[in-house]
Amino acid sequence: MGNGTPARPRPELPVLLGKAEIHQRVAELAARLAEEHPAGEPLVVLAVMKGALVFLADLIRRLPMPLEIELVTARSYRGRTRREEIELLDDLGALGLGGRHVLLVDCVLDSGRTLAAVRRAVAEHGPASLKSCVLLRKDVPRVAGAEAEYVGFDVPDLFVVGYGLDHANRWRHLPYVAALPPQGDEEGSH
Ligand code: IMP
Ligand code: MG
Repeated sequence: MGNGTPARPRPELPVLLGKAEIHQRVAELAARLAEEHPAGEPLVVLAVMKGALVFLADLIRRLPMPLEIELVTARSYRGRTRREEIELLDDLGALGLGGRHVLLVDCVLDSGRTLAAVRRAVAEHGPASLKSCVLLRKDVPRVAGAEAEYVGFDVPDLFVVGYGLDHANRWRHLPYVAALPPQGDEEGSH
């Protein structure tokens, strides 16, 4: 096991964050989460699909507290005001978040609309605590209410793929984070 040919970054997808660097940082985040979590209390980890799925899988395997995993799918669309709006496709009311410690997990904090919308929706159900953990935080202006207490990496404003992040639902399985060249000139695109 593990002796196969190492996955080689494609030259057309420049690596922004390598596999080892990500794993090291995920371990650090998990250690901080464990340290700052009230001892013995269960934690509900609510992950934003689909982008958070790889980060979620790595992070939860390093968390020592009693855990429950929940998923929420967020979709963004242009509202009537032409502003981008976020719709949650799951009913958070069914999760029984009242009085629970909730940790939101997402892959990337960009404009912050997604995280702000999910935070607002969770807050309505009266959790005992609510914190957010994102793998990446882009260097862009953000809407109010999109703060993340735990951040893996601060990154420049580039479109990135891999480690859960997609472009047109592709590249999520890359074990590293790569910058996607502009204009979709990556191999196999059409
Ligand atoms: P926000 O709502 O603008 O913060 O954007 C968050 C969502 O946009 C993420 O959950 C991703 O689905 C998507 N997204 C933002 N930036 C990227 C990127 O660089 N690569 C892939 N998806 C991204
Ligand atoms: Mg996406």
